[in-house]
Amino acid sequence: MNSKITIAIDGYSSTGKSTIAKELAKRLGYIYVDSGAMYRAVALFAFQQKWIGTDFFQVRSLVENLKHVSITFVYNAELGFAETYLNGINVESDIRSLEISNYVSRVAAIPEVRKLLVSLQKEMGVSKGVVMDGRDIGTVVFPDAELKLFMTASPDTRAKRRFDELRARGEEVTYQAILENVIYRDHLDTTREDSPLTKAIDAVEIDNSQLTREAQAKTIYDLTLQILRKNN
Ligand code: DC
Repeated sequence: MNSKITIAIDGYSSTGKSTIAKELAKRLGYIYVDSGAMYRAVALFAFQQKWIGTDFFQVRSLVENLKHVSITFVYNAELGFAETYLNGINVESDIRSLEISNYVSRVAAIPEVRKLLVSLQKEMGVSKGVVMDGRDIGTVVFPDAELKLFMTASPDTRAKRRFDELRARGEEVTYQAILENVIYRDHLDTTREDSPLTKAIDAVEIDNSQLTREAQAKTIYDLTLQILRKNN
């Protein structure tokens, strides 16, 4: 089986997209791209420049300075995945804070930001052999992807997962604040005008509220093998 395919994984926040995408890419020897990290890096850039806060957002300043944003991924062999760099600085941890999570959906709704990041993402996929996760991968970035998955889980399940993750990293957060962030982001992601989160008609929906990680990984790997066999 030597012809590589493109795998698009979309879905709501904290549905475990990146965990499954990373595992799958590793198993197949494919490249994994976390497109959400790119939106987070732009949000961090806006935050560092003091263009975004709880009650303000200088959209024009950000748009006019997008040419000064360089996002790269550098593989960290110890961690087993590529870390995100903003203008040459490792921001992998900074982009995952609750503060950036609170700003990122507003940044991701800006058409100029989407245009720039979508073109970078398309470039990363030209040679196939890519597993990319996000919100518009199967609908906009790779509409011809051979395998499209759409991940869902209840808001409670997702908030609990993110809460455990942030607490494990030592962040002082409350479950209620996380749940509110999850619901708020669902709303912004699904109602924005430019490429809102929606299931591609040819995507396979996976609700993992009740699925173990192993059962989910097996279902997805089996689906991938079916497609690879058909293609070879
Ligand atoms: O997957 P994530 O939570 O790291 O994504 C961060 C934000 O970026 C989220 O609010 C939705 C947005 N996003 C997007 O609009 N399009 C993508 N392809 C990926 C993420």
